[in-house]
Amino acid sequence: MTRAVDARLTVDGTTRELPLERSTVGNDGVSVATLLSDTGLVTVDPGFMNTASCESSITYIDGDQGILRYRGYPIEQLAQNSTFLEVSYLLIHGELPTADQLTALNERVARHMHVHSGIKAFLEAFPRDAHPMAVLSGATSALSTFYPESVGRGEHEIELATVQLLAKTATVIAYLQRRFTGGDLIEPSRDGTYVDEFMRIAFSGTDGSLDIDPTIRRALDLLLILHADHEQNCSTSTVRIVGSSQANIYASISAGIGALSGPLHGGANEAALGMFDNIKESGDTVEQFVAKVKDKAEGARLMGFGHRVYKSYDPRGAVVKDVANTVLAELGGNDETFQMAQRLEEIALSDEYFIERKLYPNVDFYTGLLYSAMGFPRQMFTPLFALGRMPGWIAHYREMMEDPRTKIGRPRQIYTGEVARDYAPMDQR
Ligand code: CMC
Repeated sequence: MTRAVDARLTVDGTTRELPLERSTVGNDGVSVATLLSDTGLVTVDPGFMNTASCESSITYIDGDQGILRYRGYPIEQLAQNSTFLEVSYLLIHGELPTADQLTALNERVARHMHVHSGIKAFLEAFPRDAHPMAVLSGATSALSTFYPESVGRGEHEIELATVQLLAKTATVIAYLQRRFTGGDLIEPSRDGTYVDEFMRIAFSGTDGSLDIDPTIRRALDLLLILHADHEQNCSTSTVRIVGSSQANIYASISAGIGALSGPLHGGANEAALGMFDNIKESGDTVEQFVAKVKDKAEGARLMGFGHRVYKSYDPRGAVVKDVANTVLAELGGNDETFQMAQRLEEIALSDEYFIERKLYPNVDFYTGLLYSAMGFPRQMFTPLFALGRMPGWIAHYREMMEDPRTKIGRPRQIYTGEVARDYAPMDQR
């Protein structure tokens, strides 16, 4: 990385040079790390609209041009040619695997899909209608207590935790799906491929067999690839900030799952389908609903629309829409809702409100329709996002741990409270 000093800041008539951090592509950065000690000033950036919290070589996004690349590879090429575990290897290790490396990963993950009976008891202890994201977050953190040999920052522990997380969270999420159907938790078979085994645990009858529709298998694999990483989003930044305290990888990813559950982040896929249903139930036309969104009076947003980084069509959203077209035609999913979603998109994309603010469909706009057609209830949509994001979280945790410049994440504030006052006894308040 080349560095040059060519940014200047003048404070009270004194000009200071600020070092510039160069990227290989995309935005360079102005480093303000020493500003506080040099000037007594902090930088203010609520929502981190303009703050680079780290250097990373995992994922690149160009939000204006709708570009997403994992380790330099365009998402469209990976979606077309790759599989989820291959993409996981790429994100975590930086290069596409050889055939032997991929076979070894497949086998290792398959061997680790069994979960401790205590984890099963833990899952069974939650109310049946508990939101699966809450259970998943708890179960991910709890994994560290059942597999202490994978807790630690040594190379061997991190490698083991990587496989444990890919394997066991898949089983946990499949079990969460199974609980919706009231089925017993069946054992992983150790010899299936990742997506097949996930679907078998999630959907098979009590005899454990399942005929997997190849269209569903491919669509699910592809959705997982599309969700696998997205640089410094809310949940990944959460994983990094928790991990920066040297908390273990399970605790860090458990916190990331909590961040993902919010409707402005991963929870948007569940919220988008809820929004389609609400429009139908309200009797509003889509035009009336869009008018309410623009009015902002009821606080309604077009869920599955807009993005902090993309100011053009989310490239993942474009792939999902294509797949939804094929899958719903083949499986006969909820065509009426798909048509409504397309109509909403069409209206929004030609409306000044959305054009001015550069609001386009994001990855969450159409995914719920696909997950629904595959047989997942709405509450499972965000856990499926989490399953896809797992390799991204792992890759970022590992990258952060390997970076000798990592410091504990600790933002500053602009204090606006009382300056100083004396304690008032109870009878004087
Ligand atoms: N519907 C209506 N108006 C919107 C929307 C939307 N979905 N998104 C943004 N706006 C408006 C917002 O009201 C504001 O208007 P104004 O300038 O008049 O105040 C303007 O656009 C900028 O919005 P913002 O909230 O300041 O933008 P942000 O970058 O902070 O938020 C976002 C990004 C994704 C949280 C937001 O677009 C949103 O709430 N979208 C709906 C939820 C959603 O689909 N989330 C999934 C994101 S993609 C997958 C993931 O990351 O998990």
